[in-house]
Amino acid sequence: MPLLGFGVYRVPPGHQTERVVGWALEAGYRHVDTAQAYGNEADVGRALRSSGLSRDQVFVTTKFSAGRRDPEAELERSLERLGLETVDLYLVHTPRGGPRRAWPAMESAHERRLARSIGVSNFSTAEIERLLPAAGVKPAVNQVQFSPFRYRRRLLESCRSHGIELESYGSLTHGEELDDPTVADVARRLGRTPAQVLLRWAIERAVAVIPKSVHEDRIRENAAVFDFQLSGEDLARLDGLDRSGAAAIAVERPWWTFSARARAAARRLLRSPLLRS
Ligand SMILES: NC(=O)c1ccc[n+]([C@@H]2O[C@H](COP(=O)([O-])OP(=O)(O)OC[C@H]3O[C@@H](n4cnc5c(N)ncnc54)[C@H](OP(=O)(O)O)[C@@H]3O)[C@@H](O)[C@H]2O)c1
Repeated sequence: MPLLGFGVYRVPPGHQTERVVGWALEAGYRHVDTAQAYGNEADVGRALRSSGLSRDQVFVTTKFSAGRRDPEAELERSLERLGLETVDLYLVHTPRGGPRRAWPAMESAHERRLARSIGVSNFSTAEIERLLPAAGVKPAVNQVQFSPFRYRRRLLESCRSHGIELESYGSLTHGEELDDPTVADVARRLGRTPAQVLLRWAIERAVAVIPKSVHEDRIRENAAVFDFQLSGEDLARLDGLDRSGAAAIAVERPWWTFSARARAAARRLLRSPLLRS
C-alpha cells in the first residue's frame, strides 16, 4: 500500500470527483481511498480509466458500509461501479453490529479475489482483539483518525504487535488545526506548509496518509512530502499535541451509534451548499 493516498470523502459525486482524482493521479498519487458511503465510486472508476494508468499502478480501497447486510454482495456492486475486477483493499467501515459481524463475508470476498486484501476501520484495540480469534484471514489494515492531535499510540502499538498496519485518516485534522502554533512554527522553520508537516509526521512513522482536497494546488502540496524530514526534536514537539491520551480507542464519538434521525440531519448538513462552498 503506497504511503500516500488520495481520499475522496465529501468530494461531491459526479464531475468533481472525476476531476480531482484525475488531478491527484497526475500529481503522482497512486492510491485512492473511497467507500460505498461516499457515493462516488463510479466517478473514481472513470478517473482511473481516463488516467491512462494500468490497473496495477494504482492501489484502490473501498469500504463496506457496515449498516448494510452483505459485505460480499456490496463489494460486487462496488466493483461494478468502479469498473474493476478487484480492489486492493476492502475495509469494514465501522464495527457497527459488532467487530465480527462482517468478517466471514469479507473473508469470502477475499477468497474469491474480489479484494486482494481485507481490513477494518475505526476498530479499537479491544474490537481487534475480539475479531482476531474468529478470523481465518487477519485484517491487513486498520484505518483510523490519526494525527499529532489524535496520536493513538496504544492503538498503533497493538495493531503493530498483531501485524496490522495502521492507516491514517484525518491526517490534516479535517482542516481544523492547520493554524496550530506548534505546527506552524515547525513548518516555518522547514520552509514547508502546516499540511505537509502533519502528513510528514505520520509518514515518519510509516503510517499511510490519505489527505483529501478539492483544490489542485493543495493536492500537489500534499504530495510533496517525500523530500524532507522532521528532526527527533520536531517529532517530539508534535507528539506533545496529543489530546487522545495515547488512546487505544479509534474514535471518541462513534457516529454509527447515533440515531437514524441524527444521521439524517448530519447528512442534510453535509449536503448543504454552505458546507460545499
Ligand atoms: N474510515 C473512515 O471512517 C474515514 C473517515 C473520514 C475520512 N476517511 C478517509 O480519509 C480521507 C481524509 O480525511 P478527511 O477528508 O476527513 O480529512 P483531512 O484529509 O484530514 O482534511 C481534509 C480537509 O483539509 C483541507 N485541506 C486539504 N489539504 C489542505 C492544504 N494543503 N491546506 C489547507 N487545507 C487543506 C480540505 O479542504 P479542501 O478540500 O477545500 O482543500 C478538507 O477540508 C477521506 O477523504 C476519506 O477517504 C475515512
